[in-house]
Amino acid sequence: MSSERSTIEGPETAAAAGASGNGAPAAQDTLTVVDNRTGASYELPITDGTVRATELRQIKVDPDEFGLLSYDPAYMNTASCRSAITYIDGEAGILQHRGYSIEQLCEHSTYLEVAYLLINGRLPDQEELGGWVDEITIHTFVHENVKDFMQGFRYDANPMGMLVASVGALSTFYPDANKIHDERVRAIQIIRLLAKMPTLAAFAFRHNMGQPYVYPDNDLDYASNFLGMMYKMTELKYQPDPRLARALDVLFILHADHEQNASTSAVRGVGSTQVDPYSAVAAGVAALYGPLHGGANEQALRMLGRIEKVENIPGFLAGVKAGNERLMGFGHRVYKNYDPRARIIRKHLDAVFEVRGKSPLLEVATELEKQALDDDYFTSRKLYPNVDFYSGLIYEALGLPVAMFPVMFAIGRTAGWIAQWKELVEDPEQKIARPRQIYTGARDLEYVPIEQR
Ligand code: CMC
Repeated sequence: MSSERSTIEGPETAAAAGASGNGAPAAQDTLTVVDNRTGASYELPITDGTVRATELRQIKVDPDEFGLLSYDPAYMNTASCRSAITYIDGEAGILQHRGYSIEQLCEHSTYLEVAYLLINGRLPDQEELGGWVDEITIHTFVHENVKDFMQGFRYDANPMGMLVASVGALSTFYPDANKIHDERVRAIQIIRLLAKMPTLAAFAFRHNMGQPYVYPDNDLDYASNFLGMMYKMTELKYQPDPRLARALDVLFILHADHEQNASTSAVRGVGSTQVDPYSAVAAGVAALYGPLHGGANEQALRMLGRIEKVENIPGFLAGVKAGNERLMGFGHRVYKNYDPRARIIRKHLDAVFEVRGKSPLLEVATELEKQALDDDYFTSRKLYPNVDFYSGLIYEALGLPVAMFPVMFAIGRTAGWIAQWKELVEDPEQKIARPRQIYTGARDLEYVPIEQR
């Protein structure tokens, strides 16, 4: 198994690959642990390449002890769920949703079809897709009070902050949404979330611009409608260039899911309390707001701007190699090969620049990639372009300010957050997420009255 595979394969995938996969551990599928404190030996079952952390609890010196815990800050080596949604092999640069490669989905599919696939586990037929798209289209409007609520923000409020607040606020408009064990109730919230996220995002943008909010146009497809809500001015009918709408739709597909990343884990963690899905998704948006998660594309674009000219690249790379700064948009915790999403974005850049005119930074980015990939410093560390290297260039060409970049990520990732939330709610093995700790503080102190301290 690849050391950088973030997804451990379960019996279903192992069986498909020709391995023994009946789910039950074979006799040798165990781990023998000897506790050197006591000399006792324990045999722990290995299933799907994992041992259950709770198996460690039987290991104790004294019967009254709590038992051994595993310690894993930042979940570097802990699977928190079984999931059939997204498979990643970082060593090989593979990303698949429900078994379909990201390349095929970006080539043939639309964002809403991919959302159906992620959420329902299979591709829809023509009729199902038509019904799904219609349902989402007729739910794009938000209550007028949401508009008033958003107007309460300062003129320069960060659009991610507005999105966190407004998607969370939707729970107050749909109090039934907390009936999460009712399949029909779940289904309608799923539709609403997918439908209203672009509306909230576009309202946040228009608020920043000091422009009137634009209502959804249900004649337009998902991406075109979003562009309309962002950019429509006095024209009676807004119709974006189909090349721009397609590039945006592909960007949404590329961001749709990435298994148990920080924001998805936030959605699952908050969702495990059985709160409504709007509150859970608000937690996901909040996690994405952090610069380590949703902000790298902005950093990559700023970096290209600073480099400015191809002649400056060698000097810049020398600084990176000397440890002065990082090459933003390069490297990934999971991908130790070309991030497949970066390759797809690169292909769509040309179409966007055909409409909008070429960004002078494209030449810098292309040459920077080439020189970095010719350099042993980067190749020996397996540093390749990631999804953020080129996405900022597309967003910029679409006329978006950098503060909107993570918002675009959030719109696309909504499908994944919902699919993961639904899987969590339907998984009988899941409970409220409640990690343990190693307590390192004081104990049994005597309270000292304030005047004696
Ligand atoms: N530029 C220069 N050197 C780098 C870079 C980089 N972008 N990334 C890693 N390295 C070096 C690092 O200095 C270290 O070198 P050494 O072994 O000599 O100390 C080695 O490569 C391993 O780095 P690491 O920090 O242990 O790797 P990590 O897996 O913890 O970090 C990362 C992953 C994405 C945080 C990191 O590669 C990075 O900071 N990249 C730039 C920021 C970026 O583009 N982030 C977007 C990630 S994609 C978003 C998504 O999928 O949601």
